Amino acid sequence: MKTTDAQPNSHSPLQSLEEWEDFLKERYPEPGVAAKPFQATDPDKKKEEFRNYEADVRPTVREFYRQNHRHQTYEFAQAKRKEFLSLNRRQMSVWEAAEYLNTLIDDSDPDTDLSQLQHLLQTAEHIRADGHPRWFILSGFVHDLGKILCLWGEPQWAVVGDTFPTGCRYSDKIVFPQYFADNPDSQNPRFQSELGVYEEGCGLDEVQLSWGHDEYIYQVTKDYLPAEAQYMLRYHSFYPWHRENEYARLTNARDRELLQWVQKFNPYDLYTKSHTKPDVKALRPFYEDLIAEYFPAKLNW
Ligand SMILES: [Fe+2]
Ligand SMILES: [Fe+2]
Repeated sequence: MKTTDAQPNSHSPLQSLEEWEDFLKERYPEPGVAAKPFQATDPDKKKEEFRNYEADVRPTVREFYRQNHRHQTYEFAQAKRKEFLSLNRRQMSVWEAAEYLNTLIDDSDPDTDLSQLQHLLQTAEHIRADGHPRWFILSGFVHDLGKILCLWGEPQWAVVGDTFPTGCRYSDKIVFPQYFADNPDSQNPRFQSELGVYEEGCGLDEVQLSWGHDEYIYQVTKDYLPAEAQYMLRYHSFYPWHRENEYARLTNARDRELLQWVQKFNPYDLYTKSHTKPDVKALRPFYEDLIAEYFPAKLNW
């Protein structure tokens, strides 16, 4: 089914991965920035409801979501965990991984023209400027390193995108829910009850989210970071949970306790992009020290 004229057969409909993040910024405007004019008309209405994000979206982003929702099945998410989570592809330090990710050249971000490394540094530097703990700064620096999956030939829809639980009913708060009609799991009654294959309160650790860069970087780094940081990395794209408050029935007390850290992290990821490019050379010693404080010299990727 063709829904757009934007390279419908390509697995790389986005000109750059940032196109997806720019869209998220539209979908989830910074609280306090866009809210005021809308509150004048109806203070009870959420500002997102005023935005017709579906009509305004770029065709490339629309096509990206169409592919993501169609192909991210329960079985696919399981298969990718098997394929990548043995972490036997290569050994790299965290800084080497950041430089490796920086070789990902796509068409430049029309809004900011930032490299991958610059996005990581901008995120981390804003966290640092706000006086947060060192592990929080480090989380900002590593949070998108999982995008190296793109360098290993993975299609965009299997690396980025707002994540969602597979194996149970799709929330209608997920962006473009109508595209799930093309997902084979939507025809499987076992996967379409509210809890699906899960038990109430089982905890997100038991839940298989759609596959992408979040789960991958969480698995690579989890042994070395505090629980709050692990949650930030693992769930930073799980917008249906941390922005829409969906899927509460799958969470346990620990998830609900740590959700606040995912929410604390989100603004740094989404709203810190600027034209002022961080000085990579000047910042490197600080980050090398920080990396050495938490991580071994080489990590398994
Ligand atoms: Fe990310
Ligand atoms: Fe990011």
